[in-house]
Formats: sequence, structure tokens, C-alpha cells
Amino acid sequence: MTAAIIDGKAFAAKVRGEVAAHVARLKEEHGIQPGLAVVLVGEDPASQVYVSSKGKQTVEAGMASFEHKLEADTSEADLLALIDRLNKDPKVHGILVQLPLPGHLNSELVINSIDPAKDVDGFHISNVGLLGTGQKSMVPCTPLGCLMMLRDHHGKLAGMNAVVVGRSNIVGKPMAQLLLGDSCTVTIAHSRTKDLAAVCRGADILVAAVGRPEMITGEYVKPGATVIDVGINRIERDGKTKLVGDVEFASAAAVAGAITPVPGGVGPMTIACLLANTLTACCRANGLPEPSGLTA
Ligand code: GUN
Repeated sequence: MTAAIIDGKAFAAKVRGEVAAHVARLKEEHGIQPGLAVVLVGEDPASQVYVSSKGKQTVEAGMASFEHKLEADTSEADLLALIDRLNKDPKVHGILVQLPLPGHLNSELVINSIDPAKDVDGFHISNVGLLGTGQKSMVPCTPLGCLMMLRDHHGKLAGMNAVVVGRSNIVGKPMAQLLLGDSCTVTIAHSRTKDLAAVCRGADILVAAVGRPEMITGEYVKPGATVIDVGINRIERDGKTKLVGDVEFASAAAVAGAITPVPGGVGPMTIACLLANTLTACCRANGLPEPSGLTA
């Protein structure tokens, strides 16, 4: 068997198109433009690439982009003061503080100072609690993107066995909550799980978010299962730098029914979902109907 490839790049382009169409209608019918503020502290090269990519795609979707680049030694008080201004700014519907923050800043304190209604990353403790109790919230972008791809591929997910490998607050835990919300039977596995391969072989849906290059091989995959690879790992192979996932693609694809590649799978969905979340936050802030198909 050879797995169907789930084309995240194409799907993300479709999501961005739907966001852009909705944004255009908001402007035309209500004179409202959604706005996203991105805050970057310091000069981490990977973060700079992400932030400029976010800004570009925000503008392409017809939204306003506000970039705040702060010095690496910015004080916590100054950062909190900026967030306070953004919380109060009616042109800003979404606020994202790029992580990781420099070591002298308390990330939890900073994230929890964002107005939960503008927390388009879904990292605020209020949003985590709302998601965990099945209430309307802002949902972290990467797991939301995975959920959208799974719904697109399968239709309804109810009754499926889902195994999420990885228990991070950014991906593993919210992914498990979202799959539970769609009535999957959910297992969260991790580095200390006993006989991880056997646990994974019970999965109709296998989500790999461990951050270990190519750890999940075909041996972990149930025949016909859907494999979602959240990993983005840079490795050296044959003297070249290569981007690989947490899944060993070739062996997994030989067993799976469907699989996301790296690159071109989950990656492009994250920013697409950030735009979707910004649009959702804008609609909620204005008491307008939320975009369908773009939320959990
Ligand atoms: N750094 C890496 N991924 C993310 C993300 O999804 N959100 C934020 N804020 N920072 C990140």
C-alpha cells in the first residue's frame, strides 16, 4: 500500500483564500479591517523569518499587520506596557508575542497579560481552560491546522482512535483536546510511554509532535492509518542540511493510508490558522457571525 499525500501547502492556500474572501466582505459590508499585531523581542534568526512571513501573509489576506520589533534587552515593564496598548487598540484584533522570549522575560506572565479575546495563539491560561472544558476559545494554530486537515480528509472523526505523540502545551495537549472535542478516543503518548510502537499501532489517527527526527517509523503505523507529522527538524545528511519530520516518511508511507509530508504538510497550515484566528477574533469583537470551517 502507498499512502495518499495530504497536501498541506495546497490546503493552506485554500484556507488563506477563504480568509481573504471573508475579510473582503467584512470591509465591504461593515467597513471593518481585521488587524494582527506581532511582537518580536530580540534577533533570533528563525523567529525573524517566521515574523516576516506572518506579516506578508497577513497583508496578502487583506488584514492590517502591525509589527513591533523590540531590542533583546527590553524590560518586562516595557513589553507589558506595549501589550497593554495593543489590548486597548480597537484596530488590533489579534496579538501574537513570538516565542521563545529572551531569558530575562517571564513568558507565562507576558502571555497571560494578553487580552484572551485577542490571544490568537491560544496560549493564555483562560483559553487553555476554555478549550479543556469544551467552551468557545481561541485555539492554538498548529493543532487547529491538523484538525482542519483531518476533517477535510475524513469528514467526521467520531469514534476513531487517535494517538498524539508529544505532550507540549503548544501542540500535544491542545491537539488531544481538539480530537476529544470531535469525539475521538484519545491517547497522549510521550518519551516515557511503554512500548510506544504498539500504542501507536492502535491509532487510526497518529499525530507525531515529539521533536525527534524520523523517530516514528513504519513499525509504529497501523495499516491504512492517517499520519500527521508536526515535526520540523533540521538534520545533516550526505553533507547537506535537510528538513525532516518526526516521522520517517518512506517507511511510514508504505503502511499508512494517508500522510502529511515535511515540508509542505502541517507547516504552512500554522500561519493560515493564525490568519483564520485573527479573522475569528475580529468577528467576535464586532458581534458578527464567525467564519464557518475556520474554527474548532
Ligand atoms: N514560536 C514558534 N512557534 C510559535 C507559535 O506558534 N507562536 C508563537 N507565538 N511563537 C512561536
